[in-house]
Amino acid sequence: MSQSRPRTVVVLAAGEGKRMKSALPKVLHPLLGRTLVGHVLAAAAPLAAERTLVVVGHGADQVAAHLSEVAPQATPVRQTEQLGTGHAVRIALDAVADLAGTVVVLNGDVPLLRAETVTALVETHEAAGAAATVLAAEVADPTGLGRIIRDPAGHLEQIVEERDATSAQRAVREINAGIYAFDAALLRDALSKISTDNDQGEEYLTDVFGLLVAAGEAVAVHVAAEATETLGCNDRVELAALRRLLRDRVNEGWLRSGVTLLDPMTTWIDVTVTLDRDAVVDQNTQLRGATTVGAAAAVGPDVTLIDTTVGAGAVVLRSHAVGAEIGPQASVGPYAYLRPAARLADKAKVGTFVEVKNSEIGPGAKVPHLSYVGDATIGARANIGAATIFVNYDGVAKHHTTVGEAAFVGCDTNLIAPVEIGPGAYVAAGSAITQDVPPGALGVTRASQRNVEGWVARRRAGTKSAEAAEAALTRQEAELARQRAVDASQGEAFHGLGDTAGYDADPGDTATE
Ligand code: UD1
Ligand code: CA
Repeated sequence: MSQSRPRTVVVLAAGEGKRMKSALPKVLHPLLGRTLVGHVLAAAAPLAAERTLVVVGHGADQVAAHLSEVAPQATPVRQTEQLGTGHAVRIALDAVADLAGTVVVLNGDVPLLRAETVTALVETHEAAGAAATVLAAEVADPTGLGRIIRDPAGHLEQIVEERDATSAQRAVREINAGIYAFDAALLRDALSKISTDNDQGEEYLTDVFGLLVAAGEAVAVHVAAEATETLGCNDRVELAALRRLLRDRVNEGWLRSGVTLLDPMTTWIDVTVTLDRDAVVDQNTQLRGATTVGAAAAVGPDVTLIDTTVGAGAVVLRSHAVGAEIGPQASVGPYAYLRPAARLADKAKVGTFVEVKNSEIGPGAKVPHLSYVGDATIGARANIGAATIFVNYDGVAKHHTTVGEAAFVGCDTNLIAPVEIGPGAYVAAGSAITQDVPPGALGVTRASQRNVEGWVARRRAGTKSAEAAEAALTRQEAELARQRAVDASQGEAFHGLGDTAGYDADPGDTATE
C-alpha cells in the first residue's frame, strides 16, 4: 500500500461489556480463532501503522497480557475510568509526543470488520485530504447505534447517539460503525473541545465530527460494502450471531478456493486454519488454531482438530486431535484421540479407540484398535495388535519405548518402558514385556496353558455351562463311536481326533489386522 503519512492506530477496548455477564473482559471473548480485539487488530494490520495503541481499562492486566501474545507491537494505554470514547482516544494520544499523519480509531468490539474495508477507508480519507472519515452502514435495525446525520446535499453534518437523537434522527438507518480515520492535528485539537453535554455525561468521540464541520473542515462518510462487517458485540446473543456470520464468510471463502464442505452449517473453521485444494470436510467438524489440511484429505464427520497438521490424502474420521501431525495418506479413527506430539508418518494408521501421545508412528505402521501409545517410536510397517498398552509411566517418570521396523506385537500386550522391540521381532499376544526383544526374536512372557478336564461338571454342576459341556461331550462320544465303526468296517487304523500338539508359542494368529 502506498503511504505518504505516518499512521497511528487506536483500538478502544477499555469497556466492561456489562451485558456479556462475564468474568472475561468482552474484547477477550473468542470468535473462531481470535479474540474480538484480535480480529480488530488483524483488520488493522495491513495499515502498517507506525504505532498501535490499545486503550485498556476493565481487565486491563488480562487484556495487556493477551496483547503481548497476539500483537506485541501494540502498546496498552490505561484508561482507569471509562469516561467515553472521546476521553479514551484523548488519553491514548496523550501518550504520543510527536503525533502527526493519520489516526485510525477502531472500536474493539467490531470483529467482522475486514482488512480491505479499513484499508479502503483510510486510503479514501488520505486521498481526499479529509479532516475525518467515518465508516457507515445502512442497517435494517439501527437500535442503540449512533446515526449518521446528513444535510440535504448529502454531506455529513453530525453523528448523534440514539439516546440524544430526535425522533426524526432515530428514523435514520445509516449508522456509525465506530471505525474512523482522522487528521492527527485536527483530531487532537477537536478532542480538547468536546463537552460532556449529553445523556450519558460522557466525552463522545463522535462529537468531533460536528466540531470539524462547524469549523469548515472537510469530513467524509465511507459506506461499508457489507453491513454485517460493522456489527458490534454487546451480549452473547450477538456474539453467537457474529460467530455464525463469520463461519459463513470463512466457509464461503474455502468453497470458492476449491475445498468441499459437505455441510457448511455444521463446519466451524477458525480464521487461522488453512486447507488445500480438494480437501473434503464432512459435517460436525471443527478445525481450530494452527490446523492445516492438505490436498484431497478427508476430515469428518464429527472431527475436532486443534493445532493439527493433516497431510495430503489423509483420512480422519470421528476423532479428536490436539497438536498432532498426521502424515500424507495416513488414516485416523473412527474414534481416535491424538494428543500433543503424536506424529503419524505417511500411510500410518491409528484406528478405533486408540490414544496416542508424544509418539512417532512410522510409515505404513498400524495401531488399529484399542491401544494406548505414549512416548514411543514405532518403526515403518510395524503392526501393533489390539489392546496393546505402551506402559510409559512408573508413577514418577515417563519412559520411552521403541518398536523396530516391521516388528509384530501381538494383542493385549504391555510394553513396559523403557524397552526396545527390535526390527522384525515378534511379541506373543498377552505378554508383559520388560526386557528388550532382539531383532527377529519372539518375546513371550505367557504361562503355558493347562486344561483341567471335567472341571465344570465337578465344580459348576447344574449350570448352563455344565449342560452345554455335557451335551458337547455326548456328541463327541457319539461321533467317536461312529468313526470307530467306519474304521472297523474299512479295516483302517484309528487315527485319533484333531491335532493334539501342545502349546508352541506361535503367535502367528495372535494379532489383528
Ligand atoms: C459507539 C459510538 C456509536 C456507534 C457504536 C458502534 C460513541 C459515543 N458512540 O457507541 O456512535 O454507533 O459505537 O458500535 O462513540 N470504550 C473505551 N472507553 C470508554 C468508552 C468506550 O475504551 O470510556 C470502548 C469500548 O470498550 C468499546 C468502544 O469503545 O470497545 C465503544 O464503546 P461503547 O460503549 O460500546 O460505545 P457504543 O455505545 O456502542
Ligand atoms: Ca458498542
